[in-house]
Amino acid sequence: MKVGVLISGRGSNLQALIDACADADFPAEIVTVISNKPGAGGLELAEAAGIPHQVINHKKFEDRESFDGALDEALRGAGVELICSAGFMRILTDGFVEKWRNKQLNIHPSLLPSFKGLHVHERSIEAGVRISGCTVHFVRAEMDDGPIVAQAAVPVHGDDTASTLAARILVAEHKIYPLALKLVAEGKARVVGEKVIFSGLDEGDDVPILSHPR
Ligand code: GAR
Repeated sequence: MKVGVLISGRGSNLQALIDACADADFPAEIVTVISNKPGAGGLELAEAAGIPHQVINHKKFEDRESFDGALDEALRGAGVELICSAGFMRILTDGFVEKWRNKQLNIHPSLLPSFKGLHVHERSIEAGVRISGCTVHFVRAEMDDGPIVAQAAVPVHGDDTASTLAARILVAEHKIYPLALKLVAEGKARVVGEKVIFSGLDEGDDVPILSHPR
């Protein structure tokens, strides 16, 4: 499956996907990486991996529609079949989301539907939750919403700061995103009635729900 990865920054999840795709048996390949921010660190990771990459700077567009139009054109031009948003911090229009319905994944650093949006770790600590985590989901028009493919639970420690918690969760993100992509690319995780249903799983397939994956 041909994958386009959307980023806005550092790109550590992009790197996890690049590493997974490097395995000849992995059922997906990254054909393009697009950043809405010039200078995003992830662009250098794409460059180092020899993956075509480009910046589509949202600031150069008049409105969200025209930015999303350019994004859509670039993705289609690259032959993308599935989008993986990986730290892509830009709200997409309903029209774009509908065009890519069930063909766009996102990762979010909380156990959705809790703590959508920004400042997730600060708000999780403030709320006093004992367990946080991360979620890979299909994208819907509402931000950080949509059928859940994979989640990993991560403990919150009493002395955590937003950055120590973020770092612990990031380790789990790097595990579940490739796992979720694999299941989707193989057609083993499909959206049925706004939930993800698994089928055809093999002995070795880890179905990542509510546990910290190994
Ligand atoms: C990740 O923690 C990702 O879950 C989060 O941004 C970070 C990007 O890091 N995404 C969101 O908050 C989306 N709502 P990365 O650039 O190193 O992958």
